[in-house]
Amino acid sequence: MTIDRNARLRDIRNWGDYFHLTIDTPDVGREARPGQFVMVKVGDGPIPLLRRPLSIHDAGKDGIELFFKVSGQGTEILSRKKPGDSLDLIGPLGKGFTVSDAMKGKRAHLVGGGRGIAPLFFLARELGARGVRTAVFYGGRRLADIPLRDKFDKAGIELLCSTDDGSFGFAGLVTELVGRELAKTKPDIIHACGPDAMMKALAALAAKHGVPAEFSLESIMGCGIGACWGCVHRIRNESGDGWTKICEEGPVFPGERILWPE
Ligand SMILES: Cc1cc2nc3c(=O)[nH]c(=O)nc-3n(C[C@H](O)[C@H](O)[C@H](O)COP(=O)(O)OP(=O)(O)OC[C@H]3O[C@@H](n4cnc5c(N)ncnc54)[C@H](O)[C@@H]3O)c2cc1C
Ligand code: FES
Repeated sequence: MTIDRNARLRDIRNWGDYFHLTIDTPDVGREARPGQFVMVKVGDGPIPLLRRPLSIHDAGKDGIELFFKVSGQGTEILSRKKPGDSLDLIGPLGKGFTVSDAMKGKRAHLVGGGRGIAPLFFLARELGARGVRTAVFYGGRRLADIPLRDKFDKAGIELLCSTDDGSFGFAGLVTELVGRELAKTKPDIIHACGPDAMMKALAALAAKHGVPAEFSLESIMGCGIGACWGCVHRIRNESGDGWTKICEEGPVFPGERILWPE
């Protein structure tokens, strides 16, 4: 874990409320693994006090990329940064998705809903580099909610899109699209990130088809490093069902360990 108070914003792009940042922060970039996140201090002053958690969208020797949707005060402040601005961030944090050389030749379905697509680009690249046959399912309410389509296409990653309103790709929920594909081809693993309702439905689908699945959970985080208990989620542990700090033990958990809220 690195505390970089002098990370530098190299580039910022946006599609409506969705923003993509390229940040020079070599130490964080070199350490990062898919599914990990950073805690970003969004303002220059004391307000907002708490850092905001954002998944590492991609990483390399020079730094990291982030992809986020403006959803409140903190992300709105972050969206107004300019290239050359300095950023204060801590990371990489948490435990990410399972990526190993033993997965060579296997098939993985990656499922992202809306801003939940953020960690799946890095994951798709790392799995692809290990010879895993990867298909990304990218769902949103409408066409404007799936702005990273071209990025996946250009990277040569197999992409299947869905929109709830039918404005692009499969018309319906991304879980329905995954369900159709599961009836044809069974992957060895599913990795997912998105709204709780999407992930809960996907967990049921994966269990029905007997496919192991991993989910990146979201929670409001106060510290990101296990100190505040702000991020707890009910997770099955060896000792039973318990409230677990997802910043420390997660945010990625195997489906069978997650107790989804009713
Ligand atoms: C590990 C992790 C990784 C994340 N990665 C990304 C990412 O890559 N891209 C992205 O767009 N978002 C991501 N999020 C969600 C992001 O952290 C929140 O959207 C952000 O903190 C909201 O801050 P804000 O100040 O803009 O909104 P606030 O003003 O704090 O809140 C606005 C609304 O969002 C809700 N909210 C606040 N924090 C969260 C949260 N953590 N999860 C769900 N709802 C929240 C609030 O209850 C409120 O309704 C991630 C969250 C976690 C825990
Ligand atoms: S965010 Fe503070 S303990 Fe997890």
